[in-house]
Amino acid sequence: AVERTLSIIKPDATARNLTGAINKMFEDAGLRIVAQKRIQLTPAQAGQFYAVHAERPFYGELCDFMASAPVVVQVLEGESAVARNREVMGATNPAEAAEGTVRKAFALSIGENSVHGSDSAENAAIEIAFFFSGLELVG
Ligand code: CMP
Repeated sequence: AVERTLSIIKPDATARNLTGAINKMFEDAGLRIVAQKRIQLTPAQAGQFYAVHAERPFYGELCDFMASAPVVVQVLEGESAVARNREVMGATNPAEAAEGTVRKAFALSIGENSVHGSDSAENAAIEIAFFFSGLELVG
């Protein structure tokens, strides 16, 4: 089925001018960017987005990192977009990411791993609504 998923190009990637290169990898994989904006999160906003990780030891570090430079938040649409996007991103830890994936190509570490993508269609709907109104999604 055609789905939508929430993608974030993270501070380590925007800082290195990789937005276009990463977008090309998504588009080449058959994903359409139906909404996109560059924003600067506060640590509190990052914390709200990643609330499910609040008990993890790396939560503070994660929130500070996500607020350290601009991010590009985007909605990707396509056939099985959640799974397709996760394939293109590669494993969370770049040391385990497959050749040809975004994280293999660009990630610096498990924290500075260049991209985020929703892990399920259910979470995608929640994460899209966190950043975008319906009027901003242009398929
Ligand atoms: P993401 O897909 O954005 O979802 C949660 C993020 O937490 C994950 O990518 C990683 O960037 C980050 N993360 C996971 N494990 C660690 C860790 N051990 N240290 C720092 N950050 C981590």
